[in-house]
Amino acid sequence: MARHLITSAIPYINGIKHLGNLVGSQLPADLYARYLRGRGHEVLFLCATDEHGTPAELAAAKAGKPVDEYCAEMWQVQADLAHGFGLSFDHYGRSSSPQNHKLTQHFAGVLADNGLIEERAETQMYSHEDGRFLPDRYIEGTCPNCGFESARGDQCDNCTKQLDPVDLINPHSTISGSTDLEMRETKHLYLLQSKLKDEIEAWIDQQEGWPVLTTSIAKKWLHDGDGLQDRGITRDLSWGVPVKRGDEDWPGMESKVFYVWFDAPIEYIACAQEWVDAGKGDDWARWWRTDEGADDVRYTQFMGKDNVPFHTLSFPATLIGSGEPWKRVDYLKSFNYLNYDGGQFSTSRGRGVFMDQALEILPADYWRWWLLSRAPETSDSEFTWQQFQTDVNKDLADVLGNFVSRVTKFCRSKFSEAVPAGGTFGPAEEALIEELQTRLAAYEKAMDAIEVRKSATELRAMWAAGNEYLQAAAPWKVFKEDPEQAAAQIRLALNLIRIYAVLSAPFIPNASAKLLSAMNTLDTGWPSDIRDAVTALPEGHVFTVPDNLFDKITDEQRDTWAERFAGTRD
Ligand code: 2FM
Ligand code: ZN
Repeated sequence: MARHLITSAIPYINGIKHLGNLVGSQLPADLYARYLRGRGHEVLFLCATDEHGTPAELAAAKAGKPVDEYCAEMWQVQADLAHGFGLSFDHYGRSSSPQNHKLTQHFAGVLADNGLIEERAETQMYSHEDGRFLPDRYIEGTCPNCGFESARGDQCDNCTKQLDPVDLINPHSTISGSTDLEMRETKHLYLLQSKLKDEIEAWIDQQEGWPVLTTSIAKKWLHDGDGLQDRGITRDLSWGVPVKRGDEDWPGMESKVFYVWFDAPIEYIACAQEWVDAGKGDDWARWWRTDEGADDVRYTQFMGKDNVPFHTLSFPATLIGSGEPWKRVDYLKSFNYLNYDGGQFSTSRGRGVFMDQALEILPADYWRWWLLSRAPETSDSEFTWQQFQTDVNKDLADVLGNFVSRVTKFCRSKFSEAVPAGGTFGPAEEALIEELQTRLAAYEKAMDAIEVRKSATELRAMWAAGNEYLQAAAPWKVFKEDPEQAAAQIRLALNLIRIYAVLSAPFIPNASAKLLSAMNTLDTGWPSDIRDAVTALPEGHVFTVPDNLFDKITDEQRDTWAERFAGTRD
């Protein structure tokens, strides 16, 4: 048994996330967490809302609410949706927590003590019309790197380059649209990442088997242009972690807060403290401090590709620069983008399907299966209603659902609602057991490697193998001549339902729970040895025929939804 720390990128508080966000971090992280728990490992799975910075302030202003109130409400909304999608976080924290305030100020203090933070007088964009400085998302303009016209002050969404507001070409205020901007002098704190470049690079080079997507992005920002840049870590905002040096005030920084990307990843640690303070765990340090046992932990992070620079460079700079024994990520799984029907999902434009809307029209498992089995791993992938309908109907209804329904109903009508006795396994049963054993090994290998699509393919193949066996064995025919033989076939098939329930739980936890309850068993033991596992439900074990597991998506539903989600949400 090993110990696994898993974090998902923490979603911005500014509104409900779309399915592209979900499949880029939280959902695959949940898949992995559930899988590892299923294999008997100790798992701490953390996520939180990312509540600071301009996204939160802008969204609260739009909603006409004080920002703290807005954040508290949206945290609840996001937590409920996470629950609705079956995301099995051990704790869903908040980056605005007192724990994160304290820890962020602590890191700033030790980084300053280590000579890695410098005060710099600089000129910043000041908007006359708005009467304020315009940090990050308060300003948009053309990306100096790729020419994208709506690049934000802190990052270009098109080429992922981290930017400073002053880098933008033709900048304008996103509050008023004003271009009446002036460069004004102000003082900010800079994290001297350039001093840590060699250490960060050595650490990245040490990693084995990281996705190419992850390392190529990291390498790009280490080497492109002038190499790793020092980062401004303070902002002229009122909402955020006040700039302090540990517990001490920081003269000259009274009206400033830390930059959201400085405090957000620190929340991964603070979240473990919140988990303890909420009475759910008793020791956060054994997960996060290598001097307190975290050396034995395997830490995996999940995120979309736009988050990679912050997790391979900025956050490691914070941890390494502190000189303290903090646990660092062991494996960083990153994702490309999921597109929506010929374009991009977009939160700002309300384009695509959002988590609340998805759950309104179908249960979570339909979405979980589709999104994970089509996860944008090696390249961007695309959601279309046609593909969604085809996949769900085929995989979930025709293959898995149909198998369960045929087996349980046949048993009820010819025997009873109990595992039938009699007969023995012959060559066809032995062949199936062998095939499943081979496929299980492939499934485990893919899951261990967090190859999400491949895992789904292997799981689907196990479902299909059961169906093909049933088709060829044809117990409904055999029953007429040799009921004992039919009993053995059905006994095997009923046991396969339990096996499928356990193996499929990481993908479709609700259907899995339904199957286990129909099979009247609490035995969720991982079927490592298929030959043993096919007798887990013994002769005479009572079960019930479950309700239909998955309804097919009709053409009419498909067309209605395609039309409903063709525009943008209001
Ligand atoms: O891209 C996002 O949604 C960010 N809120 C992710 C932050 S991840 C972390 F560093 F906390
Ligand atoms: Zn760009």
